[in-house]
Amino acid sequence: MKLLESVVEFRRARAEVPGSLGLVPTMGFLHRGHMALVKRAREENDSVAVSIFINPTQFGPSEGYQTYPRDLRRDLELLKAEGVKLVFAPPPEEIYLPGFDTWVEVGALAERLEGASRPDHFRGVATVVMKLFNIVRPDRAYFGQKDAQQVRVIEKMVADLDLCLEVVAVATVREPDGLAISSRNTHLSPEERKAATVLWSSLSAARDRWAQGEARARILKKVIVSTIDKEPLARLDYVSTADSKSLEEVDTIDRPTLVSLAVWIGKTRLIDNVTLAGR
Ligand code: PAJ
Repeated sequence: MKLLESVVEFRRARAEVPGSLGLVPTMGFLHRGHMALVKRAREENDSVAVSIFINPTQFGPSEGYQTYPRDLRRDLELLKAEGVKLVFAPPPEEIYLPGFDTWVEVGALAERLEGASRPDHFRGVATVVMKLFNIVRPDRAYFGQKDAQQVRVIEKMVADLDLCLEVVAVATVREPDGLAISSRNTHLSPEERKAATVLWSSLSAARDRWAQGEARARILKKVIVSTIDKEPLARLDYVSTADSKSLEEVDTIDRPTLVSLAVWIGKTRLIDNVTLAGR
């Protein structure tokens, strides 16, 4: 496994990798969720590249860019054990040269849901992912369904800008009690950690109601809101039932629908989602 910290070095090493290459973009501090992406990439490609870059442009002013957790040494051990070929871990000034001022902006898809609560977030994500695609030139790129809107934004960018690679979405990896694994979970106190199970339990309750025949989005959202309301440490930011491709809100679950939510547990904001197949 090679660790490369500059664009020039990475390109040189990449040129020597034969066959197909899968890319897993990450911000490091790797957990089982990230590793599921790496494993999938390993299965589907001759070689795997992982990027570790805490992207400053996708963080809002109070979203903790400075305090984002990092542990490069441990990350490298995990990646080596999975047979990763290339690791790209550049410093910020390598990606954003002085005067950097070109942005990739995905339209309506990026304004809803997370985009409404986090203005400019997806502009930062799309821009850095575009740069990573250009630097790494992968055949396939792997993203977690945990960040469902991020997957859609990247898919849209790839389609609209004729990028020549396949975007692969990987199912969310969960703790045994259903909590989606996230580096933000480490911020939770023991009481908050227990309360955080309310995200998945509320989504599961909605999914069960849907499985029993309830197709009205309004009712499914009510199931979620009332479940969250019962947890005193939880405060709902938004809940959405949206067409899983366009992310436009739907009234009736008559097509594949993304049910997604964001919830504050104390000072930590968590997201989760489930897709209902439609009938
Ligand atoms: P990061 O939060 O490090 O996540 C990297 C990838 O891991 C994302 O595609 C994310 O959806 C996936 N992931 C995180 N938790 C997961 C889980 N529990 N199950 C499955 N996949 C999971 O997302 C980013 O970084 C950045 O926005 C990035 C795409 C790297 C651009 O900067």
